[in-house]
Amino acid sequence: MAQTRKTIAWIVGASSGIGAALALELARHDWRVALSGRRTEFLEEVHKRLPDPALGLVLPLDVLRLDTFEEAAERLWRAWGPPDVVFLNAGIYEPLRDLRIDPEEFRRVWEVNYMGVVNGLAVLVPRMAQAVEIRRRQIFVTASLAGFRGLPQAEAYGPTKAALINLAEALRGRLEQQGVEIRVIAPGFVATPMTARNRFPMPFLISAEDAARRIRLALDGHRFLVAFPRPMSLIVRSLRFFPDRLYFALLRRLGAGVRSSPPSR
Ligand SMILES: NC(=O)c1ccc[n+]([C@@H]2O[C@H](COP(=O)([O-])OP(=O)(O)OC[C@H]3O[C@@H](n4cnc5c(N)ncnc54)[C@H](OP(=O)(O)O)[C@@H]3O)[C@@H](O)[C@H]2O)c1
Repeated sequence: MAQTRKTIAWIVGASSGIGAALALELARHDWRVALSGRRTEFLEEVHKRLPDPALGLVLPLDVLRLDTFEEAAERLWRAWGPPDVVFLNAGIYEPLRDLRIDPEEFRRVWEVNYMGVVNGLAVLVPRMAQAVEIRRRQIFVTASLAGFRGLPQAEAYGPTKAALINLAEALRGRLEQQGVEIRVIAPGFVATPMTARNRFPMPFLISAEDAARRIRLALDGHRFLVAFPRPMSLIVRSLRFFPDRLYFALLRRLGAGVRSSPPSR
């Protein structure tokens, strides 16, 4: 009897945090997972933890380098064929702790978080559009609830996530005509190496495993925006409709970002 084809996910940013947890979650549900990121040894660790090594494929890449993205895609297509779902999940976070605005730091965050996704899309859009043998083709971009309104300390990070949401909205209709769905994941606070550096209380913090489970459960749905946890998502997204005066008064009240060192040169 012919073996039924296993569903394939390609996770870019799978070496730690949400991406690593998502790889394990999907593999436990019998998906095949291609694992990408720069740190090969971390990707191999994740691979080792899969319930069956045949369910994983390590494809190191740097999202800043288009050639490595293209090479990884080529290897995946040759090994397994096109994926059903791709997660463009790589990201970095640099909190602006004082008012020292370092353009290099802002550029680095922009390059990884935004241009890294653009590089991924450049490689994926033509390939996914041609993969007509796959019944449902999805590309997920990991943005953040921090992309919905300007938040103190997220001055370098938040705009990259806002831009990703805008980009996915803009692309959605024309990609749909090609049979490809682009969707956005917008988590609140998730306990990962990225947030381990935060020195403030993180409301509604969830584990990476919990985030991964929520993402897996959303895969069968059709919502453009997969935002969680729900209370945090409702609060942050409703802030968009607050008048500015009220929004800034609320931030002051919460003491967010007011204890800051003066700018220095
Ligand atoms: N944790 C949260 O509270 C939270 C909330 C909202 C959104 N997010 C978003 O969720 C995503 C995952 O973050 P996380 O919290 O799981 O953090 P994380 O554990 O630090 O994971 C970040 C991932 O991105 C990869 N990455 C970074 N730079 C890369 C590059 N140049 N090329 C390829 N891969 C690169 C890392 O792999 P290598 O270092 O091996 O390359 C790693 O796998 C990010 O987009 C983040 O912005 C996180």
